[in-house]
Amino acid sequence: MVRLCSASVVLPVFIALMAREWMHVRPRVDWSPKTVDNYVSKNPVEIEPLPDCPKGKRPLLIFGATSMLGKYIVDPFMEDKSLCIISYARSKCEKCHISVRGDLRDVRYVEHVLEHFKPDTVMTSVKPPLLGIHYKVYVELNMLSMIELIKLAKSTGVKYFVYVSSIAASGHYHPHHYATEQHDTPYYTDYEAPYDVSKRVAEDYLLALHETDKFNVISIRTGGIVGGEGDPYDYMRWPITGGLEPSPPRVDSNYAGNIADALKVVSEDIRKNHSLGGQFYYYTGEPMSETEKCKIAAEAAGNIFISAPLWLADYIEYLHHLRWDPLQYSYIDLIRMGLVEQTFDQTKFHTAFPRFKSKYTMKQALLKIYGK
Ligand SMILES: *[C@@H]1O[C@H](CO)[C@@H](O)[C@H](O)[C@H]1NC(C)=O
Repeated sequence: MVRLCSASVVLPVFIALMAREWMHVRPRVDWSPKTVDNYVSKNPVEIEPLPDCPKGKRPLLIFGATSMLGKYIVDPFMEDKSLCIISYARSKCEKCHISVRGDLRDVRYVEHVLEHFKPDTVMTSVKPPLLGIHYKVYVELNMLSMIELIKLAKSTGVKYFVYVSSIAASGHYHPHHYATEQHDTPYYTDYEAPYDVSKRVAEDYLLALHETDKFNVISIRTGGIVGGEGDPYDYMRWPITGGLEPSPPRVDSNYAGNIADALKVVSEDIRKNHSLGGQFYYYTGEPMSETEKCKIAAEAAGNIFISAPLWLADYIEYLHHLRWDPLQYSYIDLIRMGLVEQTFDQTKFHTAFPRFKSKYTMKQALLKIYGK
C-alpha cells in the first residue's frame, strides 16, 4: 500500500495525466446537448415567426457570420446599404440586420429560412474549431449539412453561392509548392484528415451544381487565417511562445480582414460577370514563415519568444503513438500540419478580380491585432 503511493509510481501517473490534458484540448464549442431535433421536432409554423427584410433591400444570407472570420466578413458588407444581411448561426449576430439562431445541421430549419427570406445570395463561412473536436463533427457539419444547404439553395432559387473553402481541401498533409488550381486533386481516399476531405467533398458538390446564369457558384480556398481570438493560432497569444529555427516550410496565411474585403469584391463581381463562377481560387495572402509570424506577434504583445531547433520536429511523428483518443483533433495534428509546405499561386484570383487589393500586409495585421 505504502509502495503504491511512492514517488516512482505517482510521478509517472501524474506526467501521463498532464500529457493527456495537453493533447486533449477541451472542445471550445459544446455540440453535444444541441441535437438536431431541437428545431426539427417542431413544426416550422410553431417556431417564432421570422422577421422580414425591408422592402427593396436585397437579402444576403450568411452562414457563419458569428465565427472568427464571419465577424470580419460582416463589416464590409454592412457598408452596402442596398443589402439586408441575415445571419444564420448558433449565436446572435449583433451587427447583422436580422439574426436567426439555428444549427446548420438542422436542415429542415435551414430550408424554412431559405424559403422565408428567398435570398439571392448565400455565403458560407462555416467550420468547426480545429482543436478539441471529434472527427464526426467535420463530416456532419462541413460535408453533410453543407451539401444539404447547397441543394436547398439551388432548389429555392438562390442565384449566387459564395463558399469559403480552405486550402485543407487540397490536403494538409500533401505538400504544395506554389500550387495552382490545376494542381493534383487527391483521391478522396488519399486524405488523412476528415476535416480536409469534408471540405473537399462539399466544394466538389457545389462546383458540380454550378449553372451559369441560374446558380452561379464560387469557391474561395483560403487558409491560415489570422484574426485574433478564435483563429487557429492560439500559441500566438500565449505569454511564452516559441518557434522553430530555421523555420519549417511555409504555410500560407492571410489576415481575416483581407479575406473579408476579398469576399466583398468576389460577391459583387460575380453578379456582373457570371463567367467568373464555377471555378475556385486560392487567395492565401503573402509569404511569411511561421516562425516570423510568431515572433512579430510576440514582440507586439510583449510576450516571450523562445526558439527551438528544427530537428525537434523530426520527433513529432512519434507523438502519434501517445494518443489516447485518436478520434479527436489535437495539437499533434496541428504541429504535423505545420511541417508540410502549403504555398499557393494566386495569379488566377488576381487576374479574375483585378480591382481587389489587400489593405494590410501580414505584419501590419499582426501589429493591429497584437500591438498594444
Ligand atoms: C468575365 O470573366 C471571364 C473569366 O474570368 C473573363 O474572361 C471575361 O473577360 C470577363 N468579362 C468581362 C466583361 O469582364
